[in-house]
Amino acid sequence: MDDNNETYSDLLRRAAKQLSNAGIEGGLRDARRLMENAGGVSAAELIAAENDVVSTETLNVFEEFIERRAKGEPVSRIAKKREFWGLEFDISPDVLDPRPDTETLVEVVISQWQEHYKSVLDLGTGSGCILLSILHEKRQALGIGLDQSEAALEIAKINSKKLELDGRTQFNTSNWFETVKGKTYDVIVSNPPYIPSADIEHLDVDVKEYDPMSALDGGKDGYDDYRHIISNAKNYLAASGLIAFEVGIGQADKIAEMLAKVGFLHINIRKDLSGVKRCVYATAPRV
Ligand SMILES: C[S@@+](CC[C@H](N)C(=O)[O-])C[C@H]1O[C@@H](n2cnc3c(N)ncnc32)[C@H](O)[C@@H]1O
Repeated sequence: MDDNNETYSDLLRRAAKQLSNAGIEGGLRDARRLMENAGGVSAAELIAAENDVVSTETLNVFEEFIERRAKGEPVSRIAKKREFWGLEFDISPDVLDPRPDTETLVEVVISQWQEHYKSVLDLGTGSGCILLSILHEKRQALGIGLDQSEAALEIAKINSKKLELDGRTQFNTSNWFETVKGKTYDVIVSNPPYIPSADIEHLDVDVKEYDPMSALDGGKDGYDDYRHIISNAKNYLAASGLIAFEVGIGQADKIAEMLAKVGFLHINIRKDLSGVKRCVYATAPRV
């Protein structure tokens, strides 16, 4: 027998207050998203049910979610889902939580796409959010996502299937280009780890405690992985192909220089919605 008599609306208000007391901004919004997940209801269903009494089962799950949120765990980590490029992606502790800023990289690839492009290589694919968003737009293209983390690739494969893109995708465990030697692609994209090692301890709790370290740590100056990728990329990029990177704050000009040094052409920088130089892209060097 259900002995709870709190309505959704009462419970949401109580949870929002609990979050606000814990110093979390936007508590009501977070509480709504967590309730949608705890009760398995959509946002619209939740609005329609505001005056209904919550079942004890949902209440217990929701209260546990709110306690975790109050301790700083991101909503997406609790819900194990993140919306990116208007699509829903599963996430796990093994993948970087996709960031809205990374949509800039997808935008660049879509805006620079040439009719003859057919193949995309995503280095450090994580949840697969970049590759799968591109393939969702470009229905004729094939894509391959590489990552050193097998556990991350399991999530990318789940996302590929859920988005019905599994017929056009492949995922390999690979130390950067290792498993694609001898192949070329029309588009190479990457959002590699780019935080300087010494800065990691200063990151916000929701990043340093919940994103995998292997997705963050870019070595002493943050450029280790860019150096490796840029010095090898021309061997894997088709003639007139596009290469595009996400970069950290303040890194764009140096990445542009690194690309110029090894002969990439038409080098450009794109800012994100906050005005940060977020993406550097270029076309293949002349052969
Ligand atoms: C910043 S995350 C990006 C994840 C995803 N592409 C995104 O944008 O949300 C970097 C990814 O690179 C992967 N990675 C790190 N070192 C790697 C290596 N040597 N070879 C392949 N992947 C690597 C990490 O496992 C992680 O998934």
